[in-house]
Amino acid sequence: MILSKTVKTMLGIGTILLPAMAFAADDVEINHLGTNNTLVRVHGDGNYLILPVQEAYEDDARINVLVDGKIEETIYVRLARTKTDYTVPFDITPYKGKNLVLDIVTGQGRNSVRDAKDDVCWDEMVIVDEFDTTNTETKYRPAYHHTPLYGWMNDPNGMFYKDGVWHLYYQKNPYGSKWQNMTWGHSTSTDLITWEQQPDAIKPDGLGAIFSGSSVIDHNNTAGFGEDAIVALFTSAGTSQMQSLAHSNDNGQTFEVYPGNPIITLDTEARDPNMFWNEKTGEWNLVLAHALEKENLFFTSPDLIHWTLSGTFGKGLGAQEGVWECPDLFELVVPETGEKKWVLICNINPGGPFGGSAIQYFIGDFDGKTFTSDTKPDGTVPTKWLDYGKDNYALVSWSDAPDNRRTTVGWMSNWQYAADVPTMQFRSANTLPREMELFTSPDGEIYVASVPSPELLKLRDKVVDKASNKTISGNSLNYKLPADGIAEIELSFEATGNDVVSFTLANAQDEKVVMKYDAKNRTMSFDRRQSGIVDFSQKFPAVTVAPTFEDSGKITLRLFLDRSSIELFGNNGEFVMTNLVFPHEPYSKLSIESKNGDAKLSDLKVYSLSV
Ligand code: FRU
Repeated sequence: MILSKTVKTMLGIGTILLPAMAFAADDVEINHLGTNNTLVRVHGDGNYLILPVQEAYEDDARINVLVDGKIEETIYVRLARTKTDYTVPFDITPYKGKNLVLDIVTGQGRNSVRDAKDDVCWDEMVIVDEFDTTNTETKYRPAYHHTPLYGWMNDPNGMFYKDGVWHLYYQKNPYGSKWQNMTWGHSTSTDLITWEQQPDAIKPDGLGAIFSGSSVIDHNNTAGFGEDAIVALFTSAGTSQMQSLAHSNDNGQTFEVYPGNPIITLDTEARDPNMFWNEKTGEWNLVLAHALEKENLFFTSPDLIHWTLSGTFGKGLGAQEGVWECPDLFELVVPETGEKKWVLICNINPGGPFGGSAIQYFIGDFDGKTFTSDTKPDGTVPTKWLDYGKDNYALVSWSDAPDNRRTTVGWMSNWQYAADVPTMQFRSANTLPREMELFTSPDGEIYVASVPSPELLKLRDKVVDKASNKTISGNSLNYKLPADGIAEIELSFEATGNDVVSFTLANAQDEKVVMKYDAKNRTMSFDRRQSGIVDFSQKFPAVTVAPTFEDSGKITLRLFLDRSSIELFGNNGEFVMTNLVFPHEPYSKLSIESKNGDAKLSDLKVYSLSV
């Protein structure tokens, strides 16, 4: 039997006289009801009920949160059975003065019915005023990339820019570091580098979890929620997937879900609505991933609420191995001709060039109703990839970005191993912000370049090493890196003929990342097979390869290192590789060598960064 604080008071005995184990904690009353069902009554005055988590169990406990007897929400938590890996906070402040009861079913599968009272979680369920979010994973938590304070994150969602603030929402599990309880988390930034965590924006409701989507500023009040209201569209993921709407009248801080949700229903799985205002047609456009059909659906609307199907694109085209998810559609100028082209982003999973998740895109036209892709002279539609690393997925753009910028961010992971990477307090970071631009390759194809956002230049602190006009062949060039594993390296080199120039980042434990430019094949490769901890997934050790789209053999590289990530931008973003790494200690030097020929290093600067 567990005594509650109320019982203690009634008995008139002091806490110290009672055996400690008789109390789960002051103010938390725990009643085990037979085998796998437990009622937790919360009487306390604090702010959070602490929930202990053990990651190993896939069979999350189902917790019905009852407020004055009514189900307020249902959450799923891997409650600790034999040991606590970490804890997560459940906010009890909204329920002050009410009867708060957590009705918990611990094992839900038929094979997992067991005696829940032996689990360790009950002793550690306490009420606290503050939840400690101090970063305990200083080795791998990036310093200048966005990460959740704690818990799981996947896709970026609903990003918009307003009044100098970049709003970033994201797929978040508030109750653990694996995928679950999809909620729109929210962070804001004024410089795209430092992020401030905001309260969760949209929480699961009766229609299901809150999957990915987009937001717009309704400048003309077409929806009737008020001038400049923020309108968000997302997928309600319950038994089926439907599209729902929410709006905000306080610049995206809090959202009210639309009482008439869902606003779009189909008889097949479709998700991740991405909408924008079309100046030419004077109406809203929406692109929706028809996930299993591996195509995109297009809709139009006068008011963001009523949508009409206007076209489809993609069936049988491009990479078709995995589901199509998280589309985006925007117009850019081809700098060489001044012509405008539309870019359709189609994230796919699996089926990326190096396995698992990846971003393919199409270049073409959009007439306000449907997208048509440019074709090659032989009539085929080329498959293009935005990133030639393994760790950039679900990339989408900010709406209303200033100065006509098409600023984007991706989720810096891969569904193959995102839940297994060696971090626990938090899981996953976003990529660096990147500007989308078009370029024409020497063979006349139009591609998208991903250029590091200009704000990143402000990070540069000291030049810790540098070089100019060096012959690479026959020399072993070595440069030092900042001790904290946080750096930008900018370099330019020239290599022709059969030259293969290697760039190796290594630490004292001989853990390394080897990047090679192959002049003959005009490719850049990235080998992380010996980069550090790689054995948490068989899919992690990998060599990724990018075409460099370049005839001259002149290459410039910008490499961003941030503890557990490396982002390589070649020739102003014409080729990009984003790859995670988990070295036991930071890479301390960069070595440059060349196999054949007469490669030259024109310039090199290693910057420490001020973070
Ligand atoms: C892509 C995705 C989306 C979905 C979300 C769920 O990574 O599968 O299609 O909305 O994640 O978290």
